[in-house]
Amino acid sequence: MKILAIHGSPHTTRSATRRLAGFVLEGAAEAGAETEMIDLCDSRITACTACEGCSFNGICVYEDDLPAIVERIKEADGIVFGSPVYLDNVSGQMKIFFDRLADAIHYQVLAGKYGCTVATTHTSGGDDVVAYQKHVMNYLGIVAVGGLSIATGGNSEALDGAEPAARELGRTLAGAIRQGFTDTKQEVEIAGNREFFKEIVLENRDFRTDEYERWVKLGWIP
Ligand SMILES: Cc1cc2nc3c(=O)[nH]c(=O)nc-3n(C[C@H](O)[C@H](O)[C@H](O)COP(=O)(O)O)c2cc1C
Repeated sequence: MKILAIHGSPHTTRSATRRLAGFVLEGAAEAGAETEMIDLCDSRITACTACEGCSFNGICVYEDDLPAIVERIKEADGIVFGSPVYLDNVSGQMKIFFDRLADAIHYQVLAGKYGCTVATTHTSGGDDVVAYQKHVMNYLGIVAVGGLSIATGGNSEALDGAEPAARELGRTLAGAIRQGFTDTKQEVEIAGNREFFKEIVLENRDFRTDEYERWVKLGWIP
């Protein structure tokens, strides 16, 4: 079982968010998972320019690190998204990454995995950023098993107190992968999204034939 954390803090190893995501991974490792972490700030990811090039063949016009990251997500059974709160939202690094997942979202290439989300903030916005990242997971067809936000008040020691809950979240994620996890609300949302994306898959079936056939095989297109 592989669990991959991806965080969008530019603080790299000094990052509170990275540390929180690291606790989640440690909990998952205790439950038997093989874990890894991607620091988005070490990756070269160009912002989406809405050229729609990817809609023709799934390949972005920008040759950067995003495709390799998508491959690493594909190889993982569980995903952790983490971001610091920047002006009540995810960091720019995280948002650029999310925007570049549009094709993966439309064709649901990462669907069926489990995930969880974390956020750190000085004071406010943590829960909203946890919820937003969960919303993006649902767009991807990934069910989130939980989330955790910590307001540090500028004190990095605040994270120490969050370690048990973060480790527990990691163990829950590993348990969901092993035994399954049901959340009807998220499943209804994911199914609704898939109905919407189905129209894109049908519309583009002449040049995205492999994806169309995958959807038929999965029973997502009758
Ligand atoms: C550009 C920027 C915007 C921020 N916006 C907020 C904010 O809206 N509310 C808040 O409470 N903290 C805000 N913060 C503080 C960070 O969310 C907080 O320090 C976070 O824990 C940093 O995590 P990191 O070390 O993983 O980067 C902001 C920090 C920066 C650099």
